[in-house]
Amino acid sequence: MKIPEKLLDSLNRQVTAEHHAALIYTQLSYDLHHLSFGGMSTWMAAQADEERVHAGKISDHILARGGRVQLGTVESPGLSVSSPLDAFSYALEHERKVSEMIRDLARIAEEVQDFDSRTLINWFLNEQIEEEDSVSGIIDQLKLVGEDGSGLLRIDARLGAERTPATPTQ
Ligand code: FEO
Repeated sequence: MKIPEKLLDSLNRQVTAEHHAALIYTQLSYDLHHLSFGGMSTWMAAQADEERVHAGKISDHILARGGRVQLGTVESPGLSVSSPLDAFSYALEHERKVSEMIRDLARIAEEVQDFDSRTLINWFLNEQIEEEDSVSGIIDQLKLVGEDGSGLLRIDARLGAERTPATPTQ
């Protein structure tokens, strides 16, 4: 079934938002590298890649249903962080905004009775729960170690070992 116009507009907005999220994670990756936390920088770079995969999932859905993907303006990240806690707190705050956008998508799909997008939107609802949970877990650990250098370096090493970005910043 053709995607109803109102939902198509929102899906296109979400494609743009996922590219915006990729830029935010890329900036966070650069800033953490600058602060000498190479592992956390790698983690953020991998997250940026994941956001581009998210954009692709939605654009594939639009195209498969004969719709046109229309990218909007992707704003500059316009952020600056001075510590790992700052960086991950910023990421969590942004993920919460994205979660709200996905809930809006779910509301609109229901309003226009578009059942064909249900699987896609449910995937994103679950993904947002996981993303918020994983960033919150890292924030808890960062708060636990505080200013302790060896604790921060242990978290840095663990996060760096967890992910492999397609576009490394090191
Ligand atoms: Fe595409 Fe981090 O949500």
